[in-house]
Amino acid sequence: MKHSYGHIDKRIKKLFDIVRPVLESIGESHGPLHAERVMQFCEELAAEEGANLKILLPAALIHDIGLAFEGSSGTNHSVLGSENCGEYLRLASYNRDEIIRIKHCIAAHNVRHESVEPRTKEARILVDADTRDKVGEDSIPRALKHMKETGKTPKEYADHWIEVRERLCFEGLLFYTETAREWWMPLYKKTLAHWKKVAGD
Ligand SMILES: [Fe+2]
Ligand SMILES: [Fe+2]
Repeated sequence: MKHSYGHIDKRIKKLFDIVRPVLESIGESHGPLHAERVMQFCEELAAEEGANLKILLPAALIHDIGLAFEGSSGTNHSVLGSENCGEYLRLASYNRDEIIRIKHCIAAHNVRHESVEPRTKEARILVDADTRDKVGEDSIPRALKHMKETGKTPKEYADHWIEVRERLCFEGLLFYTETAREWWMPLYKKTLAHWKKVAGD
């Protein structure tokens, strides 16, 4: 981890050591580097919006961990992650109340999936930070890794990206916080133009 976050909470490093092999097993596009970027975006948003980093940062670190349990279950990774993260968090010394709040963030992070509405500030910031890693020029290398992992062609990836993001945008669910809308909507628009070009629209 580039940033140890020890000044915020020493348990984050411990949690990272515990979950590293699991994160490394889920593929590069959703692995440790994605988790670290999402943590960084969460920290930036929290500085503006106000949030409890002792809940938000561990949630960001393990938000995609459910991908390791997905297999052929058909259950969304947000649900699986929330169901399976308790033991890691207990090992890293998080208490019962914190675990409940972290689990909510994880369960609600995938807004495409009709699951859980993000009810807390921390949950809403996590959604926005995760979306940030899908927009902007710096999201393109990650998209290429994702295509390689899933065998999707650039056109298939672009079509899917546009379909999902345009629907969220229409429903007003692309970004939940004022700050994310202000900072990252321009990045979204540029990235949309990029994928439209790839899709041939
Ligand atoms: Fe996810
Ligand atoms: Fe993610």
